[in-house]
Amino acid sequence: MTDQELKTLLESLSLDEKIQMIHGAEFFKNSGVAQKDIPAFSFSDGPMGPRLEYEPANWLPIGGNDDYTSYLPCNSALAATFNRERAYETGLLLGQETRAREKDMILAPGINIHRSPLGGRNFEYMSEDPYLTGEIAVPYVKGVQETDVSACVKHYALNNQETYRNGTDVTVSERALWEIYLPAYRATVLEGKALGFMGAYNKYNGEYLCENQQLVNEILRGEWGFDGIFVSDWGATHDTIKAGLCEIDVDMRVTTDFDEYPMANPLKQAILNGEIEESHLDKKVWHLLSVMNRLHMLDGNRKRGSFNTPEHHAALLKTAEESIVLLKNEDNLLPIDENRIKNILLIGDNADRIHALGGGSAEIKALYEISPLMGFKMISGGSFHVDYEPGYYNYVIGNAWGKENAQVAAKELFDDDSAINPDLLTEKDIQRLAGVFAPNAPRQSRKILSSQLEAKNKEYLDRALEKAKNADVVIYIGGLNHDHDVEGADRKDYLLPNNQDEIILKLLEIRPDAIITLIGGSPVSTQAWADKAKAIVYSYYAGMESGLALAKTLMGMVCPSGKLPTTFPANIEDSPAHKLSTFPGGMSASYDEGIFVGYRYFETENIKPAFCFGHGLSYASFQYKNLAVKDLAPALTEDIYSIRNLPNLYEVRFDVCNTSDRDALETGMLFVSAPTSFTTVTGKDEKRPAKELRSFDKKLIAAGKKETYCFNLTPMDFAYYDEELHMYAVKSGDYTIMAGRNVADLPLTATIHIDKDLKISRS
Ligand code: BGC
Repeated sequence: MTDQELKTLLESLSLDEKIQMIHGAEFFKNSGVAQKDIPAFSFSDGPMGPRLEYEPANWLPIGGNDDYTSYLPCNSALAATFNRERAYETGLLLGQETRAREKDMILAPGINIHRSPLGGRNFEYMSEDPYLTGEIAVPYVKGVQETDVSACVKHYALNNQETYRNGTDVTVSERALWEIYLPAYRATVLEGKALGFMGAYNKYNGEYLCENQQLVNEILRGEWGFDGIFVSDWGATHDTIKAGLCEIDVDMRVTTDFDEYPMANPLKQAILNGEIEESHLDKKVWHLLSVMNRLHMLDGNRKRGSFNTPEHHAALLKTAEESIVLLKNEDNLLPIDENRIKNILLIGDNADRIHALGGGSAEIKALYEISPLMGFKMISGGSFHVDYEPGYYNYVIGNAWGKENAQVAAKELFDDDSAINPDLLTEKDIQRLAGVFAPNAPRQSRKILSSQLEAKNKEYLDRALEKAKNADVVIYIGGLNHDHDVEGADRKDYLLPNNQDEIILKLLEIRPDAIITLIGGSPVSTQAWADKAKAIVYSYYAGMESGLALAKTLMGMVCPSGKLPTTFPANIEDSPAHKLSTFPGGMSASYDEGIFVGYRYFETENIKPAFCFGHGLSYASFQYKNLAVKDLAPALTEDIYSIRNLPNLYEVRFDVCNTSDRDALETGMLFVSAPTSFTTVTGKDEKRPAKELRSFDKKLIAAGKKETYCFNLTPMDFAYYDEELHMYAVKSGDYTIMAGRNVADLPLTATIHIDKDLKISRS
């Protein structure tokens, strides 16, 4: 449809018809306007695949057998691939699955910054670094939208914790906002052309995000020109007039009083009373119509989707393989040589656990999910035996069966600190908890009385240690699960749950060659045993093929190439927000660490983490050499440069040689280092991070061969955000370019000089 035709359509709509389009009429759908041939617009969670079907107005899964879907690696896993192609492909197949499930907008990707290792939804987000986040999010959004489905970038913005998520008021410096928390969002609009955004639950500067004039109207709509659909998080609008005036388009909630949502009858009344002009409503409807038009929902020319296809599963296996991070490999313990073994013993709850149906709204009813145990059995081919021992009795909170256990689950999940009082849970809530979690329970996870727990744990551990003595290879597979990485609650501490530290230590005493594998969505403490273990592997929740990817990696059929998108601090107190005791805060959260988030802090303050940003070993070995910097010498004549159109200042090249005898993927990284203390272009003394990631690329390098990595640097790569100018600025002077494998291993350096101060608009 042309814009004029859309406008005519909009003008033909009555007040009631427009109002019915801008709020939920079901939990995941608005009302269309049948008389005007406007279909309903439907949403689906979430980042890891289209969610299972719920009843339209009842939080109960429908429970059919036709809503199983492909289960994607979580966003942190995707970021760990450091591969834009994998991100595009993942977005593309997510869009296709969403389309085939007859939904119009997939509520993904989640792109908030990992501010604390304890953030409950870190697994749904990508990284602690805004550049990496943007570089993965942009191709992902493009991939989704290639399929005539809208992405929905969430949760805009500053939604970095779950504690008090429904109302935390975030205070953050303007500089940190523009250097850390907003750039990836901006990239999804300017480069990714995102058609959807979701407003977060929290507040910024005293205003809820879905009513926040500054972040929504001025920045997102005004500065970035976002003209897509802004949907509230479910229940994130509060005040009818404020939401009406804010350019938020759809009001979604978790309650069934659809017509009483703030943007339903209350907004209609406010318009009729003259408290708010109808033109605000028209804008909202315009955004909806215009996106529906771009998705070809109004002209019938929409692309077909597909779900659960073998092609999707093959692509997901590849992504899962690329996401696995080899943290340590002393004495080349890995890969395991199949020819030298007769049996492998897996120990640990995550060896036989599947994770899809957990985590909150990101739950996926996976067509299948290969556990590590299954993965090993699939590739053993009978040539070695795979044995399993849980090692500890996982007192599972979420994996509850039936009403009584759902109540237990609810009590544990929503503890005293939470806004939700477990005693107020309705019968339906309880049924839902039971329904959602039940299918996810692995065989060893049954509720038992806590008094029996100690004995059970001992029995399990004794058995595992006894068997460990005689196994050819012992692999521990523990870590976290979605009782810990979960929407609605942050982790309480940094230690591995279920006394795993103790178990790992005992195991390493008997078997110093045990391979320690952790699965999870966030950093965990490895302090108690990391120096004793020879081989450590970390796998983010890597989707339906995760167990196969892990087994193939440990057995050497795949060469690991994942790298950490987020620092693993040695101690939680080392992490900046925790050092300052500002996480999680109370009803307000003050981000006092400013721009010093993640590696920006560790590198600047010289604090050694357990595993640094970008860390990830390979079975191959690489040599970085031949750094060459070419001054492109553009004429720098502008007063203010537009961030949308920046000149290239330098071209940087370096070679990576694969000095091993196996082909391998390698992510080469480029950091820029500015003096950590400097005077701004407006004459203020300020601090800067010691290093900032400015480019990366992942290439396949054949054994014994080299590949050249080539990047261009623009003024933004040298910029900081100047709070007096309210724009980015580059201070003239010397900068160091550093290239290498991760933030702490940058063997190639060169100094370059910028001879002129520069200013860059922020949008
Ligand atoms: C979550 C969103 C999700 C929505 C719909 C909310 O609780 O924060 O991420 O998309 O529910 O399920």
